Amino acid sequence: MDTAGFLVLLLSSSFLFEGNCLDDSGPKSESSELCPSDIDSVLRQMSAALSAQQVEINHMQEGIRQLKEENRHLLQENQENKVEIRQLQEENQAMRTEVDSLLNNDKAQEAALERLQTSSSVTEHKVEALTHDKTVWQVAFSAALVDFRSQSFGPDDTDTTLVYKHVVANIGNAYNPQTGIFTAPVRGVYHFHVHIFELFGGSHYAIVSLVKNGTKMVTAWEVHSSGHGSSSNSMSVLLEAGDEVYVVLWRSARIFDDTDHRNTFSGHLLFTV
Ligand SMILES: *[C@@H]1O[C@H](CO)[C@@H](O)[C@H](O)[C@H]1NC(C)=O
Repeated sequence: MDTAGFLVLLLSSSFLFEGNCLDDSGPKSESSELCPSDIDSVLRQMSAALSAQQVEINHMQEGIRQLKEENRHLLQENQENKVEIRQLQEENQAMRTEVDSLLNNDKAQEAALERLQTSSSVTEHKVEALTHDKTVWQVAFSAALVDFRSQSFGPDDTDTTLVYKHVVANIGNAYNPQTGIFTAPVRGVYHFHVHIFELFGGSHYAIVSLVKNGTKMVTAWEVHSSGHGSSSNSMSVLLEAGDEVYVVLWRSARIFDDTDHRNTFSGHLLFTV
């Protein structure tokens, strides 16, 4: 109950008791005075109400104090949460950095692996090439002109390429017995030899040249008026892969061959360069 309420109570009490006062001396008088016992009673009630109100105020103050305390706690907790959040954020950042560096590491490893694979495949190719070298770069051939009969070659109006049909050896298949042409399979120094034979009668001569790619390099030459004649020549020459070497019978010249194989063309790879 508030203070205004007490005042109303006080006033109404004084009117209520006005003129109805019982005093000790006798029956009730008609006086307008407030009886002291009534005032006492009102004051006692007021005092009791006031002290009840004080208790209530104390309670409220205690409540406010508790709320303030709680608020302080919450603020502190909030502060602590903020700190924790910052720490978590920092931790998160650190983890991100670590993941980044791991990813980078991964990339570096991938690159290294790629390099290894490349170098491994290069090595494989080298090994393959070396193995290849061993089988292909063994080059040697010898061939004679005729296979199974006696035959004269020339005289003709032009230089003609001789096709040595009787193959004695053709290691590496660089010599072609269909065309008479030797094709270098690899850059290197090669040695070639040609030998010719002729049965002379009349005014013939026997002349052949070793030709490299259309250029006469060396010539075997024999002129007789009668009887047998033979000649030879040879060369060591640097060839590029694909270069061709063959024997050309000169225009108007003549040679003779039979199964004794007196006309031969030979070539060997000495070494690659
Ligand atoms: C020689 O002739 C062959 C076949 O025509 C050709 O492949 C090669 O390049 C020629 N070599 C040179 C040095 O001209």
